[in-house]
Amino acid sequence: MKVAIIGTGYVGLTTGVCLADLGHHVICVDNDLEKIEKLKRGESPIYEIGMEDLLRKNLKEGRIVFMNEIASAVKESEIIFVCVNTPPKKDGHADLKYVEQVTKEIALTQCNHGDYKIIVDKSTVPVKTAEKVKETLARYGAKEAMFDVVSNPEFLKEGTAIKDTLEPDRLVIGVDSEKAKEKMLELYKPLIDKTHVPVKIVPVRSAEIIKHGANTFLALKISFANLIAFMCEDVGANALETLEAIGLDARIGSQFLKPGIGFGGGCFPKDIAALKKTLEILGIDGSLIDSIERINETAWQRFVKKVEKELWVLDGKLIAVLGLAFKSGTDDIRNSPALKVIEVLKANGARIRAYDPQAIENARKVIPDIQYCSDPYDAMKDSEALLVCTEWEEIKTLDPKKIKETMAVPIVFDGRNVFDPQKMKKAGFTYFGSGR
Ligand code: UDX
Repeated sequence: MKVAIIGTGYVGLTTGVCLADLGHHVICVDNDLEKIEKLKRGESPIYEIGMEDLLRKNLKEGRIVFMNEIASAVKESEIIFVCVNTPPKKDGHADLKYVEQVTKEIALTQCNHGDYKIIVDKSTVPVKTAEKVKETLARYGAKEAMFDVVSNPEFLKEGTAIKDTLEPDRLVIGVDSEKAKEKMLELYKPLIDKTHVPVKIVPVRSAEIIKHGANTFLALKISFANLIAFMCEDVGANALETLEAIGLDARIGSQFLKPGIGFGGGCFPKDIAALKKTLEILGIDGSLIDSIERINETAWQRFVKKVEKELWVLDGKLIAVLGLAFKSGTDDIRNSPALKVIEVLKANGARIRAYDPQAIENARKVIPDIQYCSDPYDAMKDSEALLVCTEWEEIKTLDPKKIKETMAVPIVFDGRNVFDPQKMKKAGFTYFGSGR
C-alpha cells in the first residue's frame, strides 16, 4: 500500500521504516530540510539499534523516500500517518498546533475526485482529537466522504523502537467505520500474519485513551516501586527482593517495578501531565497522578540527600557521574533525573566529571560547564564519590577492582542498582544502593 508519514521524529521515522520493511511504499515528510537530506543518505538522526540498517535496506530497495512537501505525499497515499510532536503546554495540556497545521495542509491538498484516504493519528494525543481533526478537515474544505480519521497509538520504547514496532504486544486500531477498519487491517496484514499479534479494534475515542492510560499505569508502577523502596531504605529492608515477590503475583507482574532515581524521557512526564489535564477538564479527581509525579521527584531528591549526608561538604568535592541519558540504550536526556542530580551537586560547589556511552553530546548542550569524559574510568579518576544514574550495560560490567584503584575515595551511590552490594562491600567500597 502507499503510505505517507508526516513527521519523522522517533515515532514517525520508526513507523515509516518498519512499514517499508513490511513491504509498503512509504513517503516520509518533514519540514526540517537538513534532517531530510541526512535520511536520504541513509543516516539516522536518532541513536536506535537497527534503525540505520533497516533505513538503508529500504532506501536501496526503493520502498522509502523522504521529502519536505506534504501535498504530493498526501496525493500519492492511501493512508496518511500524522506523527508530528505534541509538546506539553505550560498547563500540561498537549499542544496540538502541529496536528492542526498538518490537518489543514491535508485538507487544502487538491486530491482526485472520488479518492478515499485514511488519516491516522499516531502522535500521542488527548481523547477527542480525531473529532477535532475531522472538524478541521471540513473547515478547510475537505469532502467528508474522502477521509476517515483513525487512532493507532504507538507503544515503542526508545532503545528498542524497531523491535517494539515489528514485534508488538498488541495492535490498537481505533476506527469508527468499517471501510477504515478493512484498510487498516490490510496495512497490518504482513505484521499480523508474521507475528500473530493480538489486534484490538475499538472506537476511536477508546484508542485515544489507551495510550495515555498505558503510559500512566507504567509510570504509576515505577512510582509505587520507588515508594516501597523509600520505605525499605528507612527500615533496612531490601526493596528489590520485596518488589520481586510482589511482582510474582500474575495480577501485578514484575515489569516496571524497578526502583531507582525515577523515570524521565519524552513520554511519561508529558503523557501523565496531559491525562491529568484531561481529567481536570472533565471534573474528575486526578490527584493520583499528582502523587505519581511527586514520588518521581522525591526519588532523585532522596538520592541527592543521600550523597549530601554521606559526603558532608559538597563544595570543591570531585564527583564522578556515570550515565546521563534518562535510561540505557538511548542518547535522549529529556527529563533525565541524572541531569537534575548534577544541577544540584553543581549548585553546591561539587566538581563533576561525567561519562555516558551515547548522551554526552546532548548533555553538553544543556549543562556545558562540567567535565565530560570519553571513558568511564577517566571520569572517576581521583574522584571522592561515584554516582550511577543510568543502567547502561557498559557501566554494569565495570571492574570493581579497577574502579577502586582509580578513585581517590571508594564511595559509590548506585541510583540504578547496577552493582552487587555484597561484591562492592567485599571490594572495599562504601556502597549505597536504591532501596537496599
Ligand atoms: C515509554 C513507554 O514504555 C512506551 O510504551 C511509550 O510508547 C513511550 O514511553 P520510553 O519513554 O522510551 O517508553 O522509556 P521506558 O523504557 O518506558 O522507560 C521510562 C523511564 O522509566 C526511564 O527513565 C526508566 O529508567 C524508568 N524505569 C523504567 C524505572 O525507573 N523503573 C522501571 O522499572 C522501568
